[in-house]
Amino acid sequence: MRGGATLPSVTIDLAHEEAGSGRPVILLHAFPLSRAMFADQVAGLADQARVIAPDLRGFGESQPGADEPSLDLMADDVAGLLDRLEVEAGVVAGLSMGGYVAMAMLRRHAERVAAVVLMDTKASADDQPARENRERVARAVVEDGPSALRPMLDALLGETTRAERRGVVDMVSRWLDSVRPEAVAWAQRAMAARPDSFATLAGALVPGFVVVGEEDTMTTRDDALAMAAAFAQPPPVYVIPQAGHLSAVENPDAVTGALRDVLRRL
Ligand code: MLT
Repeated sequence: MRGGATLPSVTIDLAHEEAGSGRPVILLHAFPLSRAMFADQVAGLADQARVIAPDLRGFGESQPGADEPSLDLMADDVAGLLDRLEVEAGVVAGLSMGGYVAMAMLRRHAERVAAVVLMDTKASADDQPARENRERVARAVVEDGPSALRPMLDALLGETTRAERRGVVDMVSRWLDSVRPEAVAWAQRAMAARPDSFATLAGALVPGFVVVGEEDTMTTRDDALAMAAAFAQPPPVYVIPQAGHLSAVENPDAVTGALRDVLRRL
């Protein structure tokens, strides 16, 4: 704010990766990660689609903005990227925070969304304790650096990954260590402010699909079923075996298979 007037928001030119041709599929990553989490899906879908995986603002190679925290701005950034790439509309598939951004796109840029895939995410807003916890994490990460995020690791990964996939645990751990603290704090505050999206799903005029790791304890199978039930045409729910919240990283082939099935159905 300056002189009492709200400054117009500025969209960020998102760094991104692109592969393949055909129907555009936009993959929106989880908090506090980057497009790197979708490496397998980018490679695995490229024979069937034009896959576009951006780094959301502040993450990976994308710059943070100076605006007030809001997932709407992340959605505007994605719409700006689609403008730059001359993509009218695509299948928008978001995992967790990426799912919140996909729902913000349904609200703000519905014409850019040909279908929506909601993966390990939820349509409910945060309650007050969850908001307070996000603020605590936001402050801790700015004060103490990325190490403040380490306790998240166990919640992000399912029990099978924690027990049997040392390489995945180490990789996600390195990702958590490489975040920008200010961007993490910004995104936590943006997620805390997000609205309930059930009405958005109920009003969606495009096909929806839901994906959930069977061991996801952060956004559970109940959250997934509740999202599916909100759509006027309840969509299929793909349950990803032996995967937790980061299903696309923990069981990448199964998530790629689900997305290939989504593309076949459209
Ligand atoms: C994510 O994986 O993007 C986060 O768990 C989302 C959240 O904190 O609600």
